[in-house]
Amino acid sequence: MNGPLWLLAPFLAVGAACLLFWAGLRAERARWWPLQRAARVAVERAGDGTRGTGGGDDPHALARRLSEVVSGLQAYRRHTAAEVANLRAALDGLEEGVVLLDGYGSVMLANAAARKIWGALVPTVRGPQEIELFGQADVDRALSDVRRDGRPRVLETAHGDPPRIYEVRIRPLARGDAVAPALLAVTRDMTEIRAVERMRREFVANASHELRTPLTAIQGYADTLREGLLDEDTRRRYLERIAASADAMARIVDDMLTLARVESFETPLRRTRLDLAEVAADAAETFRPLFAERGLRFSANLAPAPAFADADQLQHVAANLLSNAARYTPPGGSVHLRTEVREADGRRWAALIVEDTGIGIPPEHRTRIFERFYRVDRGRSREAGGTGLGLAIVKHIVARHEGRVWVEGREGPGSRFVVLLPAEPQPSEGET
Ligand SMILES: Nc1ncnc2c1ncn2[C@@H]1O[C@H](COP(=O)(O)OP(=O)(O)OP(=O)(O)O)[C@@H](O)[C@H]1O
Ligand SMILES: [Mg+2]
Repeated sequence: MNGPLWLLAPFLAVGAACLLFWAGLRAERARWWPLQRAARVAVERAGDGTRGTGGGDDPHALARRLSEVVSGLQAYRRHTAAEVANLRAALDGLEEGVVLLDGYGSVMLANAAARKIWGALVPTVRGPQEIELFGQADVDRALSDVRRDGRPRVLETAHGDPPRIYEVRIRPLARGDAVAPALLAVTRDMTEIRAVERMRREFVANASHELRTPLTAIQGYADTLREGLLDEDTRRRYLERIAASADAMARIVDDMLTLARVESFETPLRRTRLDLAEVAADAAETFRPLFAERGLRFSANLAPAPAFADADQLQHVAANLLSNAARYTPPGGSVHLRTEVREADGRRWAALIVEDTGIGIPPEHRTRIFERFYRVDRGRSREAGGTGLGLAIVKHIVARHEGRVWVEGREGPGSRFVVLLPAEPQPSEGET
């Protein structure tokens, strides 16, 4: 190499290097450009307010930016997944069955309750709008109807074994491009609600009927008295019957009010630690004269029996059982009252037992007598002044104490009523 050219070499090398670097830079920029645009768009779409600052021409800044966008998207995806999981958990926590069906007839979502009620929920599409999903004709028909005309439906149906009553509400959602609208079907168990409604209706009917009988008697006697053609004796007899019927009505009303009170959760249970033997001893003293008057032998064996209970309400229980024993045991019979400690189901209970040698209760009536107004022999009980509410009151009081009550036969004639009350407060119950 000659001198001047050799002298130029460093400059040329630097120039070439600069040229190469510049060319490289351009190539690099050309390579990054689509990414850079993507980053801008992503930043804009993400709407994080940094629009226009994304990357510039610097590939490192661009890379940083992109990695920010990617981690933002990942965080967003994690957040969305967490939200979906929360939503699913919430839906699975619902007692109502929820099923979401898309416009093509696929199940997009079915919560735990829906699967428990309806099983696998595998759809069979029978036509453009005809579908079978619930495996129950009336519900599937309603589902197909809503798919066809887009109008919501509500139906009540019995399903399962043993059958329960379900209300199914089906409403259309957005149609989109599909042949039919998406659908939301919500299933609610109505069994208990309907049972309570039926009991209410029956109670009102029974109560009206019970009141109607003495009322009719009062009206009849009053009408005859009004005609004024009766001798003094008959007049007095009729007036006494009117008074007796009015007493019967008052008793029914009192019993109904007592029942309403013990049923209502607004009436608090005032539980304390007490000895059931003392409650029983009080009741025994109150009833002793009545037993004597009816010609019944009465005995008691009251062993200490600690209980956690409401003393006033237990008085009700003892009084009802003793008055039944007096009422349904013919003269000459005997009644025995007992308290003791019992072990059952791994727990300790205080037991109150009332035993009589009376008319007894046939086995087929032994659970029913605890229903309101239920009497084995209507005529006989009414004659004895009974309204059929006493044992319903007993049952409710015992149930509120989370105790048990039942009646069993005896070796001889008569019946044995047994009441078990918790000896100790349950962990869930605070002492009052
Ligand atoms: N000790 C008993 N012996 C025989 N039958 C009984 C006895 N106790 C209850 N019963 C039957 O159970 C029915 C229901 O009893 P319950 O105490 O609920 O009503 P009641 O005695 O007829 O009226 P009340 O509301 O005044 O108590 C009675 O009508 C009677 O047929
Ligand atoms: Mg009674």
